[in-house]
Amino acid sequence: MLKDDKKKERVAKFEEKNSGRYSWLLDIRDADMNPIGSPDYDPRTLYIPKSAWTTFTEFERQFWEIKGQHFDSVVFFKKGKFYELYENDADIGHQKFDLKLTDRTNMRMVGVPESSFEYWAAQFIAKGYKVARVDQMETALGKAMRERDGAATKSAPKVIRRELHSILTAGTLTDSGLLTNDMATYCMAIKEINRPGAEHLPTQFGIAFVDTSTAEFNLASFYDDMDRTKFETLITQIKPKEVVVEKGGLSVRSTRILKNSLGANTIWNHLQPEAQFWNALDTADELRIKEYFGANEAGSLASDCWPAALQSVKDNMAVMSALGGLVWYLRSLKLDTELLSFKNFHVYDPVRQASTLILDGQTLSNLEVFQNNGDGSETGTVLRLLNRCVTPFGKRLFRRWLCHPLRSSSAIGARLDAVEDLMRVPGFMELFEEKCARFPDLERIVSRIHAGSCKISEFLVVLSTFRTLVDTSRRLSSYTDQFKSKKLASVLDELPDLTEHLNYFAEAFDHKVAQAEGDIIPHPGFAEDYDANNEVLNNLDSQFAQLLDKVKRELKTTKIVYKDLGKEIYQLEMSNKITVPKSWKKTSSTSSISRYYTPELMALVTKLQEARETKNAIMKELQGRLYAKFDENYKDWLKAVKIIAELDCLCSLSKSSSALGSPSCRPEFVDNERSVLELEGLRHPCVIPGIASDFIPNDTLLGGDTSNLILLTGPNMGGKSTLLRQTCVAIIMAQLGCYVPAEKCRLTPFDRIFTRIGANDNILAGQSTFMVELSETSKILSEATERSMVILDELGRGTSTFDGYAIAYSVLHELSTRIGCLGLFSTHYGTLTNEFERDPNVALKHMACQVDQANREVTFLYKLVDGVCEKSYGMNVAHMAGVPREIVDRAEEMAQEFELKQETKREEELRLTRGAKNVGLGMVMDLAYLLGRVGRPDTATAEDTEMEDNAEGNGDSTTRVGARCLTKEQETHVFQRIFKAMASL
Ligand SMILES: Nc1ncnc2c1ncn2[C@@H]1O[C@H](COP(=O)(O)OP(=O)(O)OP(=O)(O)O)[C@@H](O)[C@H]1O
Ligand SMILES: [Mg+2]
Repeated sequence: MLKDDKKKERVAKFEEKNSGRYSWLLDIRDADMNPIGSPDYDPRTLYIPKSAWTTFTEFERQFWEIKGQHFDSVVFFKKGKFYELYENDADIGHQKFDLKLTDRTNMRMVGVPESSFEYWAAQFIAKGYKVARVDQMETALGKAMRERDGAATKSAPKVIRRELHSILTAGTLTDSGLLTNDMATYCMAIKEINRPGAEHLPTQFGIAFVDTSTAEFNLASFYDDMDRTKFETLITQIKPKEVVVEKGGLSVRSTRILKNSLGANTIWNHLQPEAQFWNALDTADELRIKEYFGANEAGSLASDCWPAALQSVKDNMAVMSALGGLVWYLRSLKLDTELLSFKNFHVYDPVRQASTLILDGQTLSNLEVFQNNGDGSETGTVLRLLNRCVTPFGKRLFRRWLCHPLRSSSAIGARLDAVEDLMRVPGFMELFEEKCARFPDLERIVSRIHAGSCKISEFLVVLSTFRTLVDTSRRLSSYTDQFKSKKLASVLDELPDLTEHLNYFAEAFDHKVAQAEGDIIPHPGFAEDYDANNEVLNNLDSQFAQLLDKVKRELKTTKIVYKDLGKEIYQLEMSNKITVPKSWKKTSSTSSISRYYTPELMALVTKLQEARETKNAIMKELQGRLYAKFDENYKDWLKAVKIIAELDCLCSLSKSSSALGSPSCRPEFVDNERSVLELEGLRHPCVIPGIASDFIPNDTLLGGDTSNLILLTGPNMGGKSTLLRQTCVAIIMAQLGCYVPAEKCRLTPFDRIFTRIGANDNILAGQSTFMVELSETSKILSEATERSMVILDELGRGTSTFDGYAIAYSVLHELSTRIGCLGLFSTHYGTLTNEFERDPNVALKHMACQVDQANREVTFLYKLVDGVCEKSYGMNVAHMAGVPREIVDRAEEMAQEFELKQETKREEELRLTRGAKNVGLGMVMDLAYLLGRVGRPDTATAEDTEMEDNAEGNGDSTTRVGARCLTKEQETHVFQRIFKAMASL
């Protein structure tokens, strides 16, 4: 028979024998028999019928016992020197990673060498799979010994013992070999509480998220609006890799936000309410029973030993339940104890209302702060531009700084002073970079040391790095007298004294041996039991010597030596000719010599063997003891890491400031009553100088002595959106403490940047663009203050011309007359500009261009100039973009017809609404307000009065509307318009 035929026959036999063997893999059900798609289906478990267990070999039984409990993970099963994947997992390995498939066993299989486990696990994890690692708990020799020693009773397995070692998932990695990115990776549990039938009421969120590589837990809780603004902000800031939610617990809106903001590889874990996603009470019980945070003293309150941040939310049902979901999940991955016991808990506030410049999720994404809107990568983002940190923990801190730029002028000033010092005084940054750029990820390793899963070589590196850190900080401090600001000196001053801790470890054990052999040999005095055992060993040494002397004397010969042969140590070796006492036991002999144990010697050897065993055991344990000793001071180590991270961020700001090219300037903050933003000669910082050296700078002047708002027109592609964006990015940079790519930058600190850009993005989110525009703008109208910056790019584009126009008009009117914020408003509605012609709060500007109508050529000048650009020159741009001439001609005709129709329709609708041409919604509101004011002169609220008191000193004569105000000039303007409108009635 040919080789091929033989193979075919073998395969046929295999298939015959195995048909139906795995039929339960064809119709998959969970352990409770729920089919896939059922609301109760639990993807973690697998139903395996009783009949199947009887057909399994011992090995298969072992595999399916584990796989059945971890069905949603790819199981890497250790077999000898390989990790093997079976059945569906083997298919994945074969199809996705091209691993060679074999079916020699009863199961389809692929395998990888044990040495490449980390590589392959990382590949699977990167594709979004969970990886379960199953290891052998004994060697083949161990198994043989177990069986020989009679431990193999009938029930004991006849295969090598194997156990689940760990489950690795993208959002919960702790092992440095698998962590490929310096940035933090988060796993987030989300609890959402909506009251049935009360959708209009705010939604409550409880959130718990952890960066498993540093064991840092964060807890957040807030009430959110219908749009889930805070939730979206949090998600954009944190970008979890993995989410843990309650089955059926998330609203459609929140799910949409998650799906839109997170990548396709995000892992979703749906837990059963209560049983898995614990409620608040169960969570508290579990935390207490497991004593994650230390033992409770009898009689003390259960939460006494909890970290402060956790204690502060212990009565918050939503957060505690979210933490419950997270802990349950971490427990299923066997990570709960090592992570929680680090006690690294923080309270997280996505919008630090009082102290920072709020950048909500929309703004972060519209301004491309963390990811660009093209391919979703970091290229061209503000983060990429500014984050020039050299340490992993610095990079992570910088991202957090960028989520929350500062608001108080003094805090911003302090940062800017430091940045300026660093730019001015040479040496500091160079030294910092030279030393710290080589630091390993101390923050992560410190948490690994706590978990006891750090290699001894890593531990040595940590010790020597902290030593370098102490020396470097001392050298860095010597620069501080040249600095004008106190900031850097005070940061350095906060460094805890690590010398004593480090000296302890320097003296505790032999670093050279540890480095070379991985053994901890403690110096005398550092480990009592080791010293005591050493004494026993030394004693035994002399006893052996004495015994040899005694034997020599008794047998009257000097020609006796000790001889070690394998396990038989300290045998007495002597010539065959010598006669020995009968009680001696001969162990081996050759033609010329014989070896013996005397009874006394045998006892000594046993003692020696025991003492050596003890020594080994102590040495193994010493590693754990050293780590625990190190862990006692984890707060100091982490504090030192934080200080380096902070210095790194300041250096990064300084480097980014220098790299802006020219002109660039230090922003000047003023605390004026009226908000002001003066940007002269501003460029978009993400446009790299050199490559686009023809970028045209522009001046943006808002507030102060000029109008608060600019209504911006201009041709398509004329640079409107770019101007809007660069203005906001400049504000972010300034409040972060960075220089700005402008000739001059003067501003009052902003409390929040609102952005509404384009009308394309949310189509994916399944909401009508009109709805999105309305709800977002109404949010801006209700939340913006005099200190806010608002940019609205082509508001109203997402709907019919009339509706869009009406929205655009009323919003701008509201912003101008009532809110008093600063803002830029771009529009294609040329006629909108007529409405605001005489509004002192709205400056009409446009992006200049030159048009050659004959050739349909537009030359963009990208210059912001006064006045209105009536047309958007869409057809010219289309022509320039290469659309064929006849199509453009036809389109132009259509457009003119359409425009005419729309104009007529608009006028008709306006006439019908009020019977008058010029009365708009805004004006009706104005009238209502003015009438209300005349009718009720003294209804000012306490807040108003307070504001009035403050205003008095400035001699500023204003009228109050709620917490807002109109200047006399604005009021006159409103009156004029109303009179004009009434005249035409
Ligand atoms: N100040 C500038 N200097 C040089 N090039 C610029 C400048 N501003 C914008 N550009 C270039 O013009 C292109 C179009 O800019 P932008 O998208 O801001 O125009 P727009 O007016 O918003 O267009 P649309 O009306 O189609 O939305 C940009 O991609 C950029 O390359
Ligand atoms: Mg645009």
